Amino acid sequence: MCFRPMKSLHNTKSAMSFPRCLAIFCIATTLLNPVFASKVCEFPAILNFGDSNSDTGGLAASLQAPTPPYGETYFHKPAGRFSDGRLIIDFIAQNFGLPYLSAYLDSLGTNFTHGANFATAASTITLPPTILAAGGYSPFYLNIQYFQFNEFKRRTQFIRRQGGIFAKLMPQKKYFAEALYTFDIGQNDLGAGFFDNKTVEQVNASVPDLINAFSTNLTSIYKLGARSFWIHNTGPIGCLPYILTNFLSAERDAFGCAKPYNQVAQYFNSKLKEAAGQLRKDLPNAAITYVDVYSVKYSLFSSPKKYGFEKPLVACCGYGGDYNFGSVPCGGTVTENGTDIFVGSCEKPSTRVNWDGIHYTEAANKVIFDQISSGAFSDPPFPLNNACLRND
Ligand SMILES: *[C@@H]1O[C@H](CO)[C@@H](O)[C@H](O)[C@H]1NC(C)=O
Ligand SMILES: *[C@@H]1O[C@H](CO)[C@@H](O)[C@H](O)[C@H]1NC(C)=O
Ligand SMILES: *[C@@H]1O[C@H](CO)[C@@H](O)[C@H](O)[C@H]1NC(C)=O
Ligand SMILES: *[C@@H]1O[C@H](CO)[C@@H](O)[C@H](O)[C@H]1NC(C)=O
Ligand SMILES: *[C@@H]1O[C@H](CO)[C@@H](O)[C@H](O)[C@H]1NC(C)=O
Repeated sequence: MCFRPMKSLHNTKSAMSFPRCLAIFCIATTLLNPVFASKVCEFPAILNFGDSNSDTGGLAASLQAPTPPYGETYFHKPAGRFSDGRLIIDFIAQNFGLPYLSAYLDSLGTNFTHGANFATAASTITLPPTILAAGGYSPFYLNIQYFQFNEFKRRTQFIRRQGGIFAKLMPQKKYFAEALYTFDIGQNDLGAGFFDNKTVEQVNASVPDLINAFSTNLTSIYKLGARSFWIHNTGPIGCLPYILTNFLSAERDAFGCAKPYNQVAQYFNSKLKEAAGQLRKDLPNAAITYVDVYSVKYSLFSSPKKYGFEKPLVACCGYGGDYNFGSVPCGGTVTENGTDIFVGSCEKPSTRVNWDGIHYTEAANKVIFDQISSGAFSDPPFPLNNACLRND
């Protein structure tokens, strides 16, 4: 197998003639893969689209900020993330030596030199049924995240031209073609269906429309110049306390996860993988990597001990029931026997998979990052550091 490098992304090679470069590239790839692999794609920026799995401050800046004990493990204060610490997207940024991504919606002291994050917690792919204020979803669904990206791309260049400090806060124009575009979205479209009293079959039947919307929106982002795409599939939603608690009678699998709910996630993922294959054909200059995050997350529930975890189905920060998840969320206050009790975190979040009933702990996110960045869960089987490549 020989990879075709994305020509525009390899400035250092432009001095060589293309055929010679390609020959060296293929030999090096064959013989020195581990060494060479880490040098292939040097992304100067990341643009991220998604939901709470990758929100680094979007919802916090716009509608609802997480309160203590969110952020306690790494940032030692709430940091706009729905976790006790870093998310997979933070480890991705760190991997490339880039700063943690600033949320596009964050208007205070924000530095976008190396990218922006359009994800907000509770975002969906398609138009949400109800918005957050009414107990529903984020208004910033994928189509809106696209429009925000379009504005970001256009306006950052005007601002850069003002010079001075402005030039030091905005990405260079060329970064938009060279950047890594990451996606992690879809979990809330499934969740919205389940909580809207739809049957599992009805939610399952909505999957093809969700995937079509995803493909249309990704194609629009491509048309604005995006070239390298790293697409996470959706996780085993049926292993999360918010599903387990609300659908107590759903059939459980060998590890205690709600089987039908996971089956819908798996169907979503099979359609997403298919769509990624189609996009690879339709978008000739795009490098599209589909990443099976589901399998890695599921392994945390099937073999927690292997990774040093315990009680994977129980929220670390929560209150009530078998899954430590009830009507009062992490960071809230319950009154029991006339006494107020703060809903705080468990003793050792580093030994736990689930943080607050919906989201993963930093410790889990790190394990997931380590696994997916190797390429062992990618299609094509490229590591993160090769996500600018296509195999033709
Ligand atoms: C923004 O961040 C970049 C990269 O970390 C840095 O080089 C730049 O100086 C920062 N801008 C300002 C105004 O501090
Ligand atoms: C779902 O059904 C339950 C019980 O019938 C009802 O209380 C609830 O309001 C319904 N939820 C929605 C979103 O329709
Ligand atoms: C979802 O739909 C697909 C395609 O019709 C079907 O193969 C699969 O069994 C369905 N899954 C569930 C859980 O209904
Ligand atoms: C995103 O997908 C939806 C549903 O197909 C579509 O209505 C919308 O125009 C798309 N947005 C972009 C920017 O492609
Ligand atoms: C509240 O009272 C019940 C019954 O006496 C007891 O089992 C429970 O432990 C008490 N809860 C707290 C937080 O003291």
